[in-house]
Amino acid sequence: MTVMFGGDYNPEQWPESVWDEDMRLMTEAGVSLVSVGIFSWASVEPRPGEYDFGWFDRVLDKLAANGIGASLATMTASPPPWLARLHPETLPQRADGVRLWPGGRQQYCPSSPVYRDHAARLVESLASRYHSHPALRIWHIGNEYGCHVRSCWCDVSAADFRRWLRERYGDLDALNAAWSTTFWSQRYGDWEEILPPRTAPTFANPAQKLDFARFSDDAILACYTMERDIVRRHTPAVPVTTNFIGLVHKPIDSYRWAREQDVVSLDSYPDPYDPRAHVDAAFAYDLARSARGGQPWLLMEQAPSAVNWRPRNAPKPPGVMRLWSWQAVAQGADAVLFFQWRQSAGGAEKFHSAMVPHAGPSARGFADVRALGRELALVPSLGRVSADVAVVHDWDSWRALESDAHPAELDLLETHRAHYAPLFEAHVTVDVVPVDADFSRYKLVVVPNLYLMTSSTAARLTEYVASGGHLVVSFFSGIVDECDRVHLGGYPAPLREVLGLTVDEFWPLSGAVPLSQGAGSVWAEWVELSGASAVATFDGGDLAGRPAITRHEFGAGVAWYLATRPDPATMRELFDRIRRDAGVRPVVEGLPDPVQAVARGSHLFLLNHGTTPTVVDLPSPGVDLLDPAAVGSKSVTLAPRGVAVVKLEEVNE
Ligand code: GAL
Repeated sequence: MTVMFGGDYNPEQWPESVWDEDMRLMTEAGVSLVSVGIFSWASVEPRPGEYDFGWFDRVLDKLAANGIGASLATMTASPPPWLARLHPETLPQRADGVRLWPGGRQQYCPSSPVYRDHAARLVESLASRYHSHPALRIWHIGNEYGCHVRSCWCDVSAADFRRWLRERYGDLDALNAAWSTTFWSQRYGDWEEILPPRTAPTFANPAQKLDFARFSDDAILACYTMERDIVRRHTPAVPVTTNFIGLVHKPIDSYRWAREQDVVSLDSYPDPYDPRAHVDAAFAYDLARSARGGQPWLLMEQAPSAVNWRPRNAPKPPGVMRLWSWQAVAQGADAVLFFQWRQSAGGAEKFHSAMVPHAGPSARGFADVRALGRELALVPSLGRVSADVAVVHDWDSWRALESDAHPAELDLLETHRAHYAPLFEAHVTVDVVPVDADFSRYKLVVVPNLYLMTSSTAARLTEYVASGGHLVVSFFSGIVDECDRVHLGGYPAPLREVLGLTVDEFWPLSGAVPLSQGAGSVWAEWVELSGASAVATFDGGDLAGRPAITRHEFGAGVAWYLATRPDPATMRELFDRIRRDAGVRPVVEGLPDPVQAVARGSHLFLLNHGTTPTVVDLPSPGVDLLDPAAVGSKSVTLAPRGVAVVKLEEVNE
């Protein structure tokens, strides 16, 4: 199978006379898959219970007749206005009590049984009508769950939250203990007293907030699984997905959701004005691939050029759309799709770019789309990406970390960036894995700021090092348990043995502080060594002379600790040393800096994120599938923002 190509197709915006041109242009561009029906609920059910599927039948029939597959949406992403009129209680409510009204999209309370019933009826009708339609390739449940409404604080949600808490804790004593409610007179004597963490006079209970984030994720997930189960009943063999909002989104735990899908799909909108956008995208793609253990994923949406929802929306300069599309494929995507096929004439996203721009098919944008479609078809079925390094990410910890009243406000994605960048820049392939991943598959495991860590995760990390693994842990990790209660006995209590140290006190920094090598910022700690040795010390400020970076040989492995965030150059040197010690090699040795290299089986992807031409020496002779004239070459010249997909003659496994 070659890479699938296409985009969101919303033909209900156009008279039917346009649809034939759509089919012609899609065929010309090599479109093989379109997402249809995402926002069609109001068009197929204009009045409650009154369905009009005729126009949608014609759309699907045209797609099938042209050999184009449908990623068939369940249409429940945005309820029609009549639902709010008939059942205002389905509208979501914010923490401060404000209702979110129709007029935008996604205006439903995830816990609402009324919303769920109406959604279930619609999905049942769709699945029974289209279960054997020849265009159906994949079910696309909802759309970007949790994009606008991440939680709902209404009374219906409050009751559902209490049900969820009863299931989790069984009795009130257990809940009171888990939430540390003896502090600030918060002890609950009756389940009915418990509310979602609505706007309060001061900091809400952090364990209550953490549970509410978990509950909200579960409530939204229940909307997804309800629909998934309906379509699976009708079409057990058709794969099911839902598109994650990119790049990494706190309300939705992609690892848990991925287990409920047949294939992961991701929407990705890097900002062309951000010179590091491709690095953040790379992190998200590594996560999307790792979420189902290395299985290929689908790039379900990206912008052909500019979006229209940033304060200033940069178009993609020539070459960038192509480069970023191939980047996704290199990192494991088996589909490249866009939002949307034809640019809207009206509505909230009319200035968002599309595959067929306002100017029509003669515009540069469509020429680029057509060229990409043809080029993607040159690449055969691709193998999997494999990585020796894992970076650990955890949604529970992320939510707990970015709660109130901590020693300092920490931004986890910033910290991830600081740890991921030196590996990316060293051309090392990385998986981004959950805390329950099999660490023994990796030569190096990096744990950035994993504030919430269960004792069992800590024990697994300890065991990993004892049996020969290389581990890097950075500051403020292993601090609390799953209820946001501190692991007592000296920080980070469950990791002290493997790290060979104790943190006596946190010392957040207001600026940069010199280290014996480079500088640290954001955070510092008073570290007492008990087996580890200091590789770098603070060289100024209150902690002068105390350890900043440590190394501990433990069992057959090595555990590193970063008590601060070293500057990028120092991180790069440090990570070079750490990964060499661990026996981790780059995909290709000696690559120039802006070139990203990823291998999928015997195909080597080379992506020049820079704006000057660059020559890359190949590890073995090969042929660039995008430039087949150069058969058997030993090197490849990448144009500015250029791409090569090299089929290597010999593969170093
Ligand atoms: C996504 C969404 C699409 C479209 C796109 C471009 O978040 O799924 O429906 O809105 O962004 O803004």
